[in-house]
Amino acid sequence: MNNLEQTLSIIKPDAVERNLDQEIKNIFLNNGFKIIKEKKIKLEKNEAEKFYKVHETKPFYNDLCEYLSSGPILVMILEKENAVLSNRELMGATNPKDAKEGTIRKKYGISIDKNSVHGSDSKENGKIEIDFFFKN
Ligand code: CMP
Repeated sequence: MNNLEQTLSIIKPDAVERNLDQEIKNIFLNNGFKIIKEKKIKLEKNEAEKFYKVHETKPFYNDLCEYLSSGPILVMILEKENAVLSNRELMGATNPKDAKEGTIRKKYGISIDKNSVHGSDSKENGKIEIDFFFKN
C-alpha cells in the first residue's frame, strides 16, 4: 500500500563541521529518499530551545540546545514510503555506541550529543518539525 510520507532530517553541527553533509545526503538518496527541500542555517539558542521544547524537562536540555545552536546545520525534508520509520532505521540508535552496523550514527556519531543526525520520531512530529523550519 502506498504510504508516501515526509519527515524532517537535520545534519547536526558535528557532521557539518567535518564536511560530512554531502556524504550523508548521498546515504539518504541511495536509500530511496527524495530531498524535497533543504537549507543550511545556524540557529540561535532560543530557536534550538523552541525546536527541542519536548525535551525541556530533561537534564540534558540545556546542553542539547547549546550544541544544536553551536554551528551550521543542514535541515531537509525527506520523502519516501514510510519515511519516518525508514529514516529512524537508517539513522540507528540515539547513542552511537548502541547503533547497529551500517547506520549513520554508527558510522559518523561521536557521542549521544554529537550523534550527527536528527530525525522526526512520528508522522505527527514530522509535520510539526517541517513547519518549524519550512513554513513561511
Ligand atoms: P535527537 O534525535 O536529536 O533528539 C534529542 C537529542 O538529545 C538526541 O538526539 C541526543 O543527541 C540528545 N541527548 C542527549 N542525552 C540524551 C539522553 N540521555 N537520551 C536521549 N537523548 C539524549
